[in-house]
Amino acid sequence: MFIKAFLLADSRFEFTNINCTSYEKRIAEFEYCYLKSINRSYKYLSGKLKVYEIPLPNMKVNFVLWKRLNGYKPFLYNVTVDLCKFLATPKSSPVVKFVYESYVTFSNFNHSCPFNNDLYVEKLPVDFMNHRLTKILPFPEGDYLFEFLWFRSRSVIGSAKIYCTVS
Ligand SMILES: *[C@@H]1O[C@H](CO)[C@@H](O)[C@H](O)[C@H]1NC(C)=O
Ligand SMILES: *[C@@H]1O[C@H](CO)[C@@H](O)[C@H](O)[C@H]1NC(C)=O
Ligand SMILES: *[C@@H]1O[C@H](CO)[C@@H](O)[C@H](O)[C@H]1NC(C)=O
Ligand SMILES: *[C@@H]1O[C@H](CO)[C@@H](O)[C@H](O)[C@H]1NC(C)=O
Repeated sequence: MFIKAFLLADSRFEFTNINCTSYEKRIAEFEYCYLKSINRSYKYLSGKLKVYEIPLPNMKVNFVLWKRLNGYKPFLYNVTVDLCKFLATPKSSPVVKFVYESYVTFSNFNHSCPFNNDLYVEKLPVDFMNHRLTKILPFPEGDYLFEFLWFRSRSVIGSAKIYCTVS
């Protein structure tokens, strides 16, 4: 299921951009969402979602991996999970589990539903992602976009787009 064939000895992961958008500000709104470079080796991603509707209503989360080849094209994964069901049994979706485990220890959402407070990812270090995406699950070189869409019924509540590159 995963791409294991591309073993690149010295590949390097970098975040290049991030874009978080709230569409239903009555429910939740991004307070911040940014990448920061402290020095050459320490860069991180932080984001915080202010939750106004408590508990946060259950949602579906759609994860799409995009790769740039003449514009971004969907690449390998387009997975939708029910958030609360996924959190109850993460192994139900190995792809989403891999992504989830890539930030959860730097976040306050290591628990199951309900969510009764603001949610954040604080200082997710690029080195941690570098290890995951070049050693644990080696990605081929290229520019990628990790897109997350949260929706309820048909309406999109929010999205986060994380652009990165493996070189
Ligand atoms: C961020 O993404 C949203 C939704 O796709 C888009 O409307 C907006 O223009 C983007 N913002 C920037 C700065 O690219
Ligand atoms: C980069 O910044 C971090 C955090 O302030 C620090 O621990 C580390 O030593 C710095 N690295 C270099 C190469 O300056
Ligand atoms: C992902 O899959 C869903 C369901 O098949 C589809 O509606 C959606 O358009 C796909 N997203 C992308 C970006 O291709
Ligand atoms: C969540 O926290 C528990 C208890 O601190 C820990 O045992 C578990 O490994 C954590 N899960 C993840 C995915 O980080």
